Amino acid sequence: MTSPQHPPTAGGTPPPPGCPAHAGAVALSGPRFQTEPAELYREMRRDHGAVAPVTLTGDVPAWLVLGYRELHQVYSDPVLFNRDSRHWGQWERIPADWPLRPMVDHSFDSVLWTTGEQHSQRVAMTENALDAVDSFELRRSAEEIADRLIDTFCGQGETELMQHYATLLPALALVRVCGYDDEEGPGLADSINTFLNGTPESLVAFQHFHAATYRLVDARTARPAADAASRMLAHGGYGREQIVQDLAVIIVSGQQPTADWIGNSLRLMLTDDRFAASLTGGRHSVTEAMNEVLWEDAPLQNSVARFATRDVQLGGQHIRAGDMVIMGIASAHHDPQVRAPGGSFTGGNNANFAFGHGDHRCPYPAQEIGETIARTGIEVLLDRLPDVELAVPEAALVWRPSVWMRGLTALPVRFTPAPAQRFLA
Ligand code: HEM
Repeated sequence: MTSPQHPPTAGGTPPPPGCPAHAGAVALSGPRFQTEPAELYREMRRDHGAVAPVTLTGDVPAWLVLGYRELHQVYSDPVLFNRDSRHWGQWERIPADWPLRPMVDHSFDSVLWTTGEQHSQRVAMTENALDAVDSFELRRSAEEIADRLIDTFCGQGETELMQHYATLLPALALVRVCGYDDEEGPGLADSINTFLNGTPESLVAFQHFHAATYRLVDARTARPAADAASRMLAHGGYGREQIVQDLAVIIVSGQQPTADWIGNSLRLMLTDDRFAASLTGGRHSVTEAMNEVLWEDAPLQNSVARFATRDVQLGGQHIRAGDMVIMGIASAHHDPQVRAPGGSFTGGNNANFAFGHGDHRCPYPAQEIGETIARTGIEVLLDRLPDVELAVPEAALVWRPSVWMRGLTALPVRFTPAPAQRFLA
């Protein structure tokens, strides 16, 4: 395997500093991914076309697919652009502590890393378990959790919605969907969020979350209940370890994107005049804001990864067998080939890649669960705090420093203090 735009390197050593072929590669890091991603992707398209050579942390080479059609091509050919990271040609130069290793580590036996027929069977287990979630019951459950969270801050007249609401609601709702005890919810939500923050405490948090998942699987093996864990066990064909890994994938894949969908949609509604006028009772505008966010500020802006299984031309670039290909979801959504600059895709156009596409797309029942939780969270908040408004100027809102996710660090709001409704009265 060779690096993008780069001659073969002996033993996989990194390209020499100053090498002219590598000089054009864009480092996939830095503040512009937070501050002005659309402009950055436009420049990358201008300089490289629909597929750009990039480097990840540690000068690790990869390709970023910026074009809509090219991204569709990658998603649609899972044999050529393979999910199995054992095809990656860079493993021998990747240190054990490479920060992005968890995102490509195939040693976890989960639905994420299987391919072909094995994946079809595995995803059937996950989809069946999630498909059986009753949408009315989920809506009721999400309403109850939302009310409970709002009760903790509604009397104060101000709060920070990312920490106290948007990140907690999906964690608590998904914990319930999977079957963990309700009492474990807050501790698990904390562990999941600490793990995803990538801080030094992440490992301990991950261990706490895993220990609880083993307890859940063992409890449901002994006594099944009406939850996703029990349905996955009942599906048959998979062992304790595999079910634990897939439950972890469900929670980890579902939590942060749903939280950011809530946060990004609320931000849009609180800052854009088109939505401000209809905040109260504006059910229709919630739908429009959520759909617009999937195009403009998709929770996953770049997604890791696929691995080329043979040499191929893509977007005018020569991709070699073993190269890593990153899906540039946000960039594809602004591709001028499919969208006039400044043109809007709101109003029911669902042809975005916010949930991926193809074999490894977000499972349809998972998408519905995420949407129900996010929509319920936004609607309950607006019902309970109808005059909610930003407590800082829009320009003071800060996006998290992530190349992968698109979400706010904080969403401070104020509102007329309201009485607690059910739980803390
Ligand atoms: C609501 C916001 C959500 C967004 C934007 C989102 C986005 C995505 C994307 C882009 C992928 C594909 C990754 C790839 O191509 O490799 C994916 C996969 C996945 N998502 Fe979601 N997701 C969301 C919610 C959820 C929820 C709520 C769940 C669980 C209940 C979930 C479970 C999964 C699973 C299990 C996969 C892996 C599928 C596979 O590899 O076969 N997601 N998601």
